[in-house]
Amino acid sequence: MGVSGVGKSTVADELVRRTGWAFAEGDDLHPEANRRKMAAGQPLTDEDRWPWLRLIADWIGEQEAAGRDAVLTCSSLRRRYRDVLREGHPSVRFVHLLVSPGSLRDRLEHRTGHYMPSSLLDSQLATLEPLEPGEPGVEVRAEHDVAAVVDAAAGQLARVGVVVPGVRDRSRGDCSR
Ligand SMILES: Nc1ncnc2c1ncn2[C@@H]1O[C@H](COP(=O)(O)OP(=O)(O)OP(=O)(O)O)[C@@H](O)[C@H]1O
Ligand SMILES: [Mg+2]
Repeated sequence: MGVSGVGKSTVADELVRRTGWAFAEGDDLHPEANRRKMAAGQPLTDEDRWPWLRLIADWIGEQEAAGRDAVLTCSSLRRRYRDVLREGHPSVRFVHLLVSPGSLRDRLEHRTGHYMPSSLLDSQLATLEPLEPGEPGVEVRAEHDVAAVVDAAAGQLARVGVVVPGVRDRSRGDCSR
């Protein structure tokens, strides 16, 4: 989770490359009506988001039922969106990636093939509700190179019961695989 440009897709790619876990981009699960709206440049309302979030929750439920470890990217900016994703799914752990607003702007300006006006970033930052006490998850600074961010995420996830195979545990100098 995290605002646009924070590195969700990039970090998820690296995590999946290392672990072989199942993977989905939340944005790929939008219903057709939402795709049309976004293609027309219209912002989504919460009414548009609920069916999308339920589709994502269904995907999570399928992985959980199959006993598959999985990674999913979704900005999940508000508590009430996250509540839909984890309802009935006790295995969900959120990883909130954090980057300073200046670095975010810089990343978004340099990202190719993915236009995003900076006003949209401002609105994302205004919308963001960080994880609250009682929500299952961790916060990870995501300014470093991608490999280091994945290492940090793995270290934090171990504290909430998720073992990431193939990632060195720096505190023990070994590998959990
Ligand atoms: N740790 C990193 N160090 C340097 N650049 C990064 C890092 N993580 C991501 N980037 C770059 O920042 C840009 C945004 O990353 P990415 O597309 O993964 O963000 P995102 O959170 O998935 O955004 P969106 O919500 O819009 O899909 C990309 O150009 C990516 O290459
Ligand atoms: Mg992305």
